[in-house]
Amino acid sequence: MKSRVTLASAFFITFSILGPVVMAGRVPAQAGSGSRPFDLIAWNDGQFVYGVDYYPEAEGPVEKDAEMMQAAGINFVRMAEFAWAKMEPTEGHYDFAWLDRALKVLNAHGIKAVLGTPSASPPAWLMARYPDIAAMNDQGVRYRYGSRRNYCMNNPHFLAAVRGIVTAMAEHYKNHPGVLGWQIDNELGGPDCYDSLCLAAFQNWCRTKYGSLDAVNKAWGTIFWGHTYSAWSQIPLPWNTLYGVHNPSLELDYRRYFSDATRNFLVMQTDILRRIAPGKAITHNEMGMFDNVDYSHLNTAIDFVAWDNYPMIDRNDTGYTDPALAHDLMRGSKNQQNFMVMEEEGGLPGWTEFWGHQAPPGLYRVWAYQAIAHGADGVCYFRWRTSRFGTEQYWQGVLDQDSYPNARYNVVKQTGDEVKRLKDVLEGTTPLSQVALLVSPDTRWAFHIQPLVKSFDYNRQLHRYYDSLRRQGVNVDVVFPQADLSPYKILVAPSLFVVTPELTRKLIDFVEGGGTLVLTYRSGVKDEHNVFTDETLPGPLAKLAGIAIHDYDPEADPAGGAQQQIVVSGQHYPAHVWFDILTPGTAQTLATYAASYYAGSAALTRNASGKGSVYYVGTEPDSAEFYDQLLAGILQSAGISGRRLPEGVEMATREGAGRKVVFLLNYTATKQSVDVGEAYRDALSGGLTATSVEVPEFGVTVLVNQP
Ligand code: GLA
Ligand code: GLA
Repeated sequence: MKSRVTLASAFFITFSILGPVVMAGRVPAQAGSGSRPFDLIAWNDGQFVYGVDYYPEAEGPVEKDAEMMQAAGINFVRMAEFAWAKMEPTEGHYDFAWLDRALKVLNAHGIKAVLGTPSASPPAWLMARYPDIAAMNDQGVRYRYGSRRNYCMNNPHFLAAVRGIVTAMAEHYKNHPGVLGWQIDNELGGPDCYDSLCLAAFQNWCRTKYGSLDAVNKAWGTIFWGHTYSAWSQIPLPWNTLYGVHNPSLELDYRRYFSDATRNFLVMQTDILRRIAPGKAITHNEMGMFDNVDYSHLNTAIDFVAWDNYPMIDRNDTGYTDPALAHDLMRGSKNQQNFMVMEEEGGLPGWTEFWGHQAPPGLYRVWAYQAIAHGADGVCYFRWRTSRFGTEQYWQGVLDQDSYPNARYNVVKQTGDEVKRLKDVLEGTTPLSQVALLVSPDTRWAFHIQPLVKSFDYNRQLHRYYDSLRRQGVNVDVVFPQADLSPYKILVAPSLFVVTPELTRKLIDFVEGGGTLVLTYRSGVKDEHNVFTDETLPGPLAKLAGIAIHDYDPEADPAGGAQQQIVVSGQHYPAHVWFDILTPGTAQTLATYAASYYAGSAALTRNASGKGSVYYVGTEPDSAEFYDQLLAGILQSAGISGRRLPEGVEMATREGAGRKVVFLLNYTATKQSVDVGEAYRDALSGGLTATSVEVPEFGVTVLVNQP
């Protein structure tokens, strides 16, 4: 293709990146503070964790369910996270008899459990007695009873009731061999509550962080519009104001406060459970790309990460990178430690209406393997059976309400048989990557607070680069700012808006030590207080990037067609969102703008610095080809082999214990061939493969480099 050749030659590469997959240099990551990573397979008596979310408080008969589960290879259930009303029917009176009976039956069928602490859905009697448990919205109105996640996490009556139920669960199950551990609450991270308790909590958080009002006023620049605070009690929450605007520095600190408060609420529960039932593991059920909480901080308080994976939400037909990136982010949120999916899609999602069209049954299997390929040592389907009751009657479980062993059940059963056989191949392996994608919670929050232009989307930018790396069969670790960057050769840090001096130092060290850093538009703009730098952009990163930015141009009307294009060796690419007009210092120009008064100015540069280099992409082209070419060149320079995969086919690897496991995942309705560069053993059939491997439609091939 013409564009491929011209753009590639502009990056001084030739497009020939096929070759054997190289082993990454990193050894499996250690969990925080030097301890061994949590081993989910060892925890589950040496079995791959294969489960369903189960609600015996509402359904039955448990005996028949347990038989069907066992027949499908299920060895794990999560239960009770919404059963507070059943476990504590009246204040201080606990009833676990029903749960004991369910556990007994399940355990007898070889199925163990994680129990959820039920704080996500307080019982009606509790909120009737203490109505101010309900969170208050930013108009000063409390929510009414109903739904879930409706509480104020600073309310003392609520906290006392949570301590009560968590203590009772811990006491009752501390020695139960069929209970492996706990899930704290469910999907923490909201709502924001604007009542007086939360206001005081935020003011106290500010006092602890800053020590003096002078320090707050200085950090936030409150002199703007004369908002200087002279008492802690004057500091507001970012609630409803005229024009709906707040000081962005206050808003960023509010997000940090909220994230910290969420973690404190979790830790209040983990403290009780660890004290009373020290032998049991603790997790939480998270939401992938959701960013109301900084998962990388929250997860220092739990033993392993678990999350909800629903690929069918917003899925396009062969797209697979939404769940892929979310898996990698979840793994990265706890130092690349393997995780589990606590809710893997078991059917079509929906609440008041169905969200999308039904997936071919085989795709449910591909998605389960995708989780494994990205580091899951456990897959637990939501839910065993579709509910007959309540809000989620349209959210399909594995079984429908009639319990008929349908096509999805048979797929779950097939997969259950396979993960049992694959256990030895998987154990001790983890995804290893030489390329990392930096996700900055501060930057994400700062862009929520000031979205820049209507068409800006931080996650879409992550995907531009991530998807291209995946299309080339390259594993990617998502890293947070506190991560050790030494395992990586390439770091992509899209729109790194908020930078601290520590992060700047780390990026300089990374590049000088030989790493390749990819920065994109709107980097280095804000300091840690969400205050604009007074240095020439990209601020503290300008020297490293070898450029200066003295002018920029926002995209005015994204619907009105491309306002700008960039030119690489005569090839034009439409560009969007934002146009940083680059003045190269030590950097060389790789692309220029084509239109407007700055036509001919640099749009993309590369700077050599120390042993490494820095690319600065001043805008957001939307052509996949552009990213594929740019990254192919960078990969090749870094000595990393990629390969062009057929569209709709994913390749991901796990390594460890002397093995490499290659997953080929086909999301398309036709069979596909992938050149894997060498012969492997097919881990399921046992046969040796050729270097070209055929993957069935909506199918999976698992390869291992061992006899
Ligand atoms: C008006 C106000 C200024 C400033 C500008 C820009 O002109 O008088 O104080 O706020 O708008 O918003
Ligand atoms: C989330 C929750 C579940 C359930 C599903 C489906 O993942 O954790 O309790 O509500 O969504 O809506």
